[in-house]
Amino acid sequence: MVNIKEIISKPIIKKIKSIAKKKNYKVYLVGGYVRDRLLGIDSNDIDFMIVGDAIKFAEEVSKELNVKLLAVYKNFCTALIHYEDFKLEFASARKESYDRKSRKPKVEYADLEADLSRRDFTINALAISLIKPDKIIDKFNGLKDLDNKIIRTPLDPEKTFDDDPLRILRAIRFASQLNFSIEPITLSAINKYAKRLEEDSVVSQERITNEFLLILQTPKPSIGLNLLYLTGVMDIIFPEISALVGIEQMSEYHHKDVFDHTLQVVDNVAKVSDNLWLRFAALVHDIAKPQTKKFISGIGWTFHGHSEQGARMMKNIFTRMRLPMNKLEYVKKLISLHLRPISLSEENVTDSAFRRLATEAGEYLQDLFVLCRADITSKNPDKVKKYLDNFDKVEKRIFEVQEKDNLRNFQSPVRGDEIMQICNLPPCKKVGLLKKKIEEAILDGVIPNDYNAAKEYLMKIKDDILSQEE
Ligand code: CTP
Repeated sequence: MVNIKEIISKPIIKKIKSIAKKKNYKVYLVGGYVRDRLLGIDSNDIDFMIVGDAIKFAEEVSKELNVKLLAVYKNFCTALIHYEDFKLEFASARKESYDRKSRKPKVEYADLEADLSRRDFTINALAISLIKPDKIIDKFNGLKDLDNKIIRTPLDPEKTFDDDPLRILRAIRFASQLNFSIEPITLSAINKYAKRLEEDSVVSQERITNEFLLILQTPKPSIGLNLLYLTGVMDIIFPEISALVGIEQMSEYHHKDVFDHTLQVVDNVAKVSDNLWLRFAALVHDIAKPQTKKFISGIGWTFHGHSEQGARMMKNIFTRMRLPMNKLEYVKKLISLHLRPISLSEENVTDSAFRRLATEAGEYLQDLFVLCRADITSKNPDKVKKYLDNFDKVEKRIFEVQEKDNLRNFQSPVRGDEIMQICNLPPCKKVGLLKKKIEEAILDGVIPNDYNAAKEYLMKIKDDILSQEE
């Protein structure tokens, strides 16, 4: 573990410490910053707790650092400063009491211990005094939980989640982000209070979606996605994903259960890409399988049209979850095309089929292949190899077709009219011949593909060609 000295040695923290000393404020480092530093993760978001008036202290800091206060939230006794790359948050030590109809607490000044006890998890309730940084203040065994990789609430978990149901999602997000487990009593309180996320106006859709997307951004999103399902939260926030549980499929490419298969595909994408929307596309690529499932004797389960139907479901889902509409087309395209590369791996496919896929996928073609490769979740290594090799072949064919098309469309940078003018020629075969010579020189790498080089080359070869008999 990183030691206190290292944590407080950051110049910005030293600066805040000297202001606190000079102006006589009791200031503590708290929250995510302390947690992350102890885990060896650096961060530019630093939370300070002040026993007393945090807004007044933030004003002193802004004067000393010569920066403006970015925001002041009087009701929460909180102020924010951006300084260089740092986001500094100053909050008064406080007690909170909640009204069941909202997450917005009534806030009162309090002492250090009361403030730490109202926090969501023991690992987020650690503090370091800037005035006397001799130890980590750890009233709820957060250090032990950090060591044992455990998410636990400082007080009764039922109260913690009832007060602020967003913490249900935060618990699952931290478990997925840090690869921690949720302590059993905390987990059963999550199960019990998950329904609070359904109540109108308690937690906004934007906050729910924000935490959900943070879970997708974690190194192994299946940890969080599984917990969302097991605690009943997925049924509330994304029922179409819960509906994949128990949908059997018999396919040589995939796992049996569509939910398990989907989670594996998301993890596979996460291993190779940080692109959140590619991960989201992986999550929803088979979303229409429950609706399109049909058993055909002699064949087994079929899901005809699930790609198109899945793409069509996205608009409603994006609207309901308040997802950014500028990502809708991307996700729809990946869902609707996700089976196409497999179908092109058969023999005797024409150039135009490859050309059509490349045109339809456009700039998303590479991402589509990442998704397709991730979609192979068979446990049989020979089969996996065979399908991955097929994708290599399909990608190669697309590349070849594109090269051919490029060549066909390729034109000399010095055009026919100019060749006629320079060489004093009427329209005739020699104009075409000179143009072809320039094009070949470019394709053979003799000259670069630019106007000046092409013109210079024309001047060099023209007399020779012009002197030849027709
Ligand atoms: N907190 C809380 N309940 C919440 C949100 C925050 O108790 N619903 C407390 C926690 O102590 C948390 C601190 O406020 O550590 C700061 O919150 P925030 O900046 O949102 O989260 P971090 O823990 O810093 O982590 P991250 O930045 O990854 O969200």
